[in-house]
Amino acid sequence: KVSQGIDLYQLMDTVNEFYQQQLRAHTHKQQAIDYLKQRGISGQIAKRFGLGFAPPGWDNLMSTHGATTSAQKALLDTGMLTENDKKRVYDRFRHRIMFPIHDHRGRVVGFGGRVLNKADEQAGNPKYLNSPETPIFHKGSELYNLHGARAGIKDADGVLVVEGYMDVVALAQAGIDNAVATLGTATSSMHLQRLFRHTQNITFSFDGDRAGRAAAWKALETSLPLLQDGYQMSFLFLPDGEDPDTMVKKVGKEAFEALVRDAMPLPDFLIDTLKSQADVNRLDGRAKLSKLARPLLEKLPGGVLKKLLVDRLSLITQVSEADLLPAKAASAPPV
Ligand code: GTP
Ligand code: MN
Ligand code: MN
Ligand code: MN
Ligand code: MN
Repeated sequence: KVSQGIDLYQLMDTVNEFYQQQLRAHTHKQQAIDYLKQRGISGQIAKRFGLGFAPPGWDNLMSTHGATTSAQKALLDTGMLTENDKKRVYDRFRHRIMFPIHDHRGRVVGFGGRVLNKADEQAGNPKYLNSPETPIFHKGSELYNLHGARAGIKDADGVLVVEGYMDVVALAQAGIDNAVATLGTATSSMHLQRLFRHTQNITFSFDGDRAGRAAAWKALETSLPLLQDGYQMSFLFLPDGEDPDTMVKKVGKEAFEALVRDAMPLPDFLIDTLKSQADVNRLDGRAKLSKLARPLLEKLPGGVLKKLLVDRLSLITQVSEADLLPAKAASAPPV
């Protein structure tokens, strides 16, 4: 992808190098280094993930790499510069820890940036700022660290999908190398298809808060149409207030890996959730459960898993399989 005669991928490489250089050499680099230290991130891991520092100020990137009109336009196209309604152009990322985002081929296509302190957040800056959609960056299909985790996914024969950049980095710091994160968006069908090219085993770990639970159920619904026999998905529910970063720090690598191994299989999550929404001791509760189950079952591709789930739900509701999942009415009348 080219803008103004400038290759956008090459440009993003340059920007990535710039932010890493600022972490090594900027006058205020110590704040950033202290922040990473305080979060338990070693120099080695910071380097592996290419973490960088966007210094405070409106025009650090702009003045060093956006001097010409064409460079400025290309940087606007990558979302690294932005402009206000008076057409003033300035750095999008200011005073943040920078996480380069690579596409599945390993090219830098965007960034996530985190504020360094609560004061910046209280002044109205979002805790995380992500690159906008650009010609080379699509949040709906890219996953943070998918390229970096390929070997780890292969070794573990599974991938762990977490919510945040920091979760991925903290897990790697603990020696767990098969984690990827969605980029502040819901898990999409394209994310899952991309992951299934690397492994048949996906474990989701969402934060142990209400938002995390809701995200888990959405991920289940998105997963169902892709669940061919052979694929396995699981859900790791962390205690309220924990995320993979805090959890792995608390319990250590081995115990965290045990939690992942014991994560709840998707079919159990599905059935438990349905059971929590209807009282199976009542006839009308069993009718309700079968009504809730139907659209979910219809999402599944035909296969043994679907048969087994219908079986199980039929047992729970004592509704016959035929009534639980009536054959779709034929769209055209029989001739
Ligand atoms: P830490 O506080 O650094 O541990 O971050 P976290 O990853 O635990 O954050 P949280 O669980 O709150 O959010 C998970 C992910 O959602 C982040 O990694 C971001 O991708 C995204 N996110 C969080 N806060 C914001 C925000 O203020 N704006 C945007 N756009 N995304 C956010
Ligand atoms: Mn790939
Ligand atoms: Mn959260
Ligand atoms: Mn966190
Ligand atoms: Mn979190």
